[in-house]
Amino acid sequence: MLIAGNWKMHTDLSAAQVLARNVAAAVAERGAALDDVDLAVCPPFISLEAVRDELADTDVAVGAQNMHFADEGAYTGEVSAPMLHSVGCRYVILGHSERRQYFGEDDAGVNSKVQQAVDHKLIPIVCVGETKAQRDGGDAEAVVRTQVRGALKEVPIEGAEQLVVAYEPVWAIGTGDTATPEQAEAMHAFIEEVLAGLYGEEMAPDIEVLYGGSMKPHNARSLLEQPHIDGGLIGGASLRAEDFLGIADAAVTATKGPIA
Ligand code: 13P
Repeated sequence: MLIAGNWKMHTDLSAAQVLARNVAAAVAERGAALDDVDLAVCPPFISLEAVRDELADTDVAVGAQNMHFADEGAYTGEVSAPMLHSVGCRYVILGHSERRQYFGEDDAGVNSKVQQAVDHKLIPIVCVGETKAQRDGGDAEAVVRTQVRGALKEVPIEGAEQLVVAYEPVWAIGTGDTATPEQAEAMHAFIEEVLAGLYGEEMAPDIEVLYGGSMKPHNARSLLEQPHIDGGLIGGASLRAEDFLGIADAAVTATKGPIA
């Protein structure tokens, strides 16, 4: 189970430090209770190093929100995998719908970044998800299948731990309108089938597939209890340490299974 916070374009340096410090304190308070839940936060690039330092005494990993596909070069304004490594990143979010929507990213571009991340031993959190119109038109599965296959085309992985996928229905992001546990579970099971086609029946169930889209402390448990939902990618609620950790608490409860 992985609970990852995507801070998006929020927090300047000092706000990021305060938030990371609050996350560290809330994690320390919970002690061993969080042993079975992996946590990560993905602040803006400029705060990665400072956030890593604030979290140094915890097991909370740090990730980036995007990355370039080349090691280095004349790419003004871009950040590379080796740079992310040098500030202690373990994860990198790739293909977020906001990157697709506002910055013209497509499956082929995401694919080259995913390949680069894996080559550099960063764990890509590959985001996929349909729009409302696509869901209403009955195309949700076809869209997600195309995105998963496109992003992972010819990306060999040696083990399930090298890859994370996040299902983020675009209509649920930042809207307060979360997918129902049944809708999310059905899509996660479908994504596992697509992953099985790429990486085999054996590895696919172990590849973590996170749900993202208005996950909050009050709705997290019912989502995380679903058999194919392996964690959450949290936007808004990751900007308050207590809300973020509230979702981690729900993950702990969910891993213990539904109440009989
Ligand atoms: P919200 O949790 O704010 O809906 O954002 C989800 C998301 O986009 C995480 O990447």
